[in-house]
Order: sequence, then C-alpha cells, then structure tokens
Amino acid sequence: MKINNRETINQVDQKVLLMGWVHVVRKMGKIVFVDLRDRSGLVQVVLVPSELDERSAEIIKDIKPEYVLAIEGRVQTRGAKQINQDLLTGTVEVLATSVTILAEAATPPFEIDNEDRQANEELRLKYRYLDLRHERMKKNIVTRHQIIRAMREFFYQNDFLEIETPFLSKSTPEGARDFLVPSRNYPGKFYALPQSPQQYKQMLMVAGLEKYFQIVRCFRDEDQRGDRQAEFTQLDVEMSFVEQADVLSLMEKMIMAVLAKIKPGIKITFPRMTYKVAMEKYNSDKPDIRQDKNNPEEYAFLWVTDFPMFEYKAGDRRWGATHHPFTSVNPEDLPLLEKGELESIRALQYDLVLNGNEVAGGSIRTHNPEILHKVFEVLGHSDKEIQAKFGHLLEAFKYGVPPHGGIAFGLDRLVAILCGEVSIREVMAFPKTSDNRDPLMDSPAAVEPEQLAELGLKIKK
Ligand code: AMO
Repeated sequence: MKINNRETINQVDQKVLLMGWVHVVRKMGKIVFVDLRDRSGLVQVVLVPSELDERSAEIIKDIKPEYVLAIEGRVQTRGAKQINQDLLTGTVEVLATSVTILAEAATPPFEIDNEDRQANEELRLKYRYLDLRHERMKKNIVTRHQIIRAMREFFYQNDFLEIETPFLSKSTPEGARDFLVPSRNYPGKFYALPQSPQQYKQMLMVAGLEKYFQIVRCFRDEDQRGDRQAEFTQLDVEMSFVEQADVLSLMEKMIMAVLAKIKPGIKITFPRMTYKVAMEKYNSDKPDIRQDKNNPEEYAFLWVTDFPMFEYKAGDRRWGATHHPFTSVNPEDLPLLEKGELESIRALQYDLVLNGNEVAGGSIRTHNPEILHKVFEVLGHSDKEIQAKFGHLLEAFKYGVPPHGGIAFGLDRLVAILCGEVSIREVMAFPKTSDNRDPLMDSPAAVEPEQLAELGLKIKK
C-alpha cells in the first residue's frame, strides 16, 4: 500500500511507496523534479537517472502534468536552503529509485496548480472532476464531510434516530414548484420529489419515534441564485414533547459541537431577536449583526423568532403561510385566528441567521387537528382540497399525536459560509449551473421515444 504524501515527514531515511498525480514537473538537465499530489497534499520527488533502475530512467523524460505515478524511493531531509516553508512536507523530499506511469493524462482545459478559478463556470462544471483537484475545492469537500460527521456524532450522542424518508412522494406545500416524476404503472399520475421531508417527519413523531434526524436531499424547482440550488441538502430534525426553547438550545449545542471540530477555539453566541424588532431595526428578517463585515472569521449567529403566521401574497391575492401551514399559531394569538385578524397572528416559528444568511428554519407544529383544519381553511383550501392534500396528516393526527417541533438547516449554506465561500456551488461536489443544467452529464436530456411511450407521455412540439 502507498503511504500518504504528508506522512513522508515522519519517514526520513525510510523506503516509501507513493502514488499520486504530477502537480508540477520541472526538468533540469537530466534531473527531473516532480511535485507529487495525492489527497493528503504535495511532496517533492527527485528523479535522478543514476539512482533509478534502467526502465525508470528511460521514462522520466515522458512525465507530464497530471500523469498518475507510482514512486518508490527514500525520504531524505532537504538542505537548509531548499526548505519550503509553504509546503507541509517542505523539509523533506523523496529520492526515487523506481517510477511507474500508472496513467497518462491529456492536457487539462484549465490549470490545476492555479487556484485563481480563472475558468468560467461552464468549463469548471463540465470538468468538475478536474476542478475538484484544486486544493481549495478539495478543502471545501473535506470540510463539508467533517461538518456532516460532527453533526451525525452529535445526534447519535443525543439519542436521535437517523431515518430515511421517500424521494418518490407527493407534492408538499413548501412554497416552491415541484419536480414531478411520471409513473409507469399509473399513466397520467405523478410522484413529486419532496421539497422537504416535512410531513414524513411529523408522521414519524405520530409513530412514536420521538427524536429524528436526517441529512437529506430536497428538491425545489426554483430559479437558482448563489445560495439556492434546485436540489440541495438539509440537516432535518424533528422532536416530540418539546417547546421552542428546547429546540433552540439543542441546536445551539449542535452548532457548537460542529465548530469545536472545524474551528476550534472560535467564540460564538446565539442572541435572539423577534421578527418585529428585526424588521424595525434592520428592515430585514435576516439581519447581519457582524461587528466588522470584512472579517472572514467572524460568525454572527442570530435567532429570529415570532414570525407572523400568515403573509398576504399580493400576486395571488390570497393569504399564505409564512413558513408552512403545519406551524403552530402562538397560543396567545389563537383568539385572533377566530376573529380572522390574520396579519397580527404570531407563529411559533424561528429562523437561524448566520452573517445575514438564513441557515435554518423551523417551528413548533400544530398538533391539534381542529386548529390545523382551521389554518388550511384560512389559507383558502376547500374541505375537498384539504382532504386531498393533507387528509393523510389529519388522519394520522387522530391517533394520538404528541406535541412536536423541529427545524431544518440548509447544509450547503452553512458549509459555504464556514468555508468562506459566497456560492453554495463551491461546496457541492456536482452542482448545477445557474440555469439548472449539468454540463458534465449533459442533463437535462431528451429520452428515447419508447421511454415516453411506456410512461404514456407525449412531448408537445
Ligand atoms: P425551509 O423551507 O425554511 O424549511 O428550508 C430550510 C433551510 O433550507 C435552506 N434552503 C435552501 N438551500 C439551498 N437551496 C435552496 N433552494 C434552498 N431552499 C431552502 C435554507 C432554509 O433555511 N420543512 C421546513 C423545516 C421545518 O419546519 O422543520 C423547511 O424545509 O437554509
């Protein structure tokens, strides 16, 4: 087995086997210097013909950037003048005794040893596997992994169950357009990809599972921006027998556990502000309360609470739920619901804001079926519609529903901010372009007429 390049610093005078990519190659007369790259980093390899076996000595002239090599050699300390402070392995180099070309490589469409992201997005995404070779991209992917790992560990320690919910589902009212999946067995009928697992996680509470979490893909057919993708990842959480204060304090602990792993020593606090104060003071429901907005290592979290339950959708000339209809009305404002004074009703809804970005949103849910029915009514659903769209949930709530609440984090957003990136695309392995395409797989794509026929579909020309 090969060792990681970065382990060479602990292997001085030892024989080692390395494998990786040619990051940079410099030819100086007969001697060839290679910066060999693997996931752990770079190490300098020196190829001197007199030290190499005959076969190896023959091929070193052929070595080009991004070739994949296997190197056998001996680690040696560099002379004082040759020490490279910028490199983790900068005090050593590997004097090769054998080199094998495991794979040749075409010239990449952009430079791998240049972190400036000089290529346009189209090209970066078309050759994403090369883009991901960049140190900064690799770091982002590794940080994402570490954050997810710390989250999982936190929830396991706190007795949560990790439960998967279906992707082939039915439309959920999270406010965006659904992605539809035609059914072959039931021509003319469609599954919808979930905009979030909202209703499933509530039914898991009815099931008595009490503490649920999932790192889950969500699908929303909406226009993309720097902080939005059509498919994105949530850290999704739901708990029974809790109040708002319980959810908030547990999530604070979770964030602190995550930051302790990836930004040890960093100090954070979680101030709280009502929606009303946020709007009055900052004219925003996600104020950026950083002292110095140019300081990249400042993480200003803020809970915004007491959102209005309903908002008037002027375009549709109707009332909508600010968060979603399952959110509980603040019990103090229940009389207003009876009176129909919708604009003054507060919800038990909370958002977590980080440096002016909404990184999470959640609520305590209505577990009283009558109030839930009333909310659907206020939102303009007829009895028939309520049955068709939410009948399953109202039915479930007949059989002993615990008080419950939860939250979902936009994982991509949280990771992007913690990585110092402006766009969530920089922390996703295979994101889509801003106009919803994947230049790598070339999707969306046309399908065979037989596939359409099987689904009972016809494309309008
Ligand atoms: P919400 O719709 O607020 O709540 O979503 C939760 C969080 O997900 C992130 N987010 C997105 N990230 C990237 N691209 C998108 N298109 C996108 N849309 C949302 C945001 C947001 O705060 N089921 C509820 C949660 C609950 O009530 O428990 C829900 O999905 O960071």
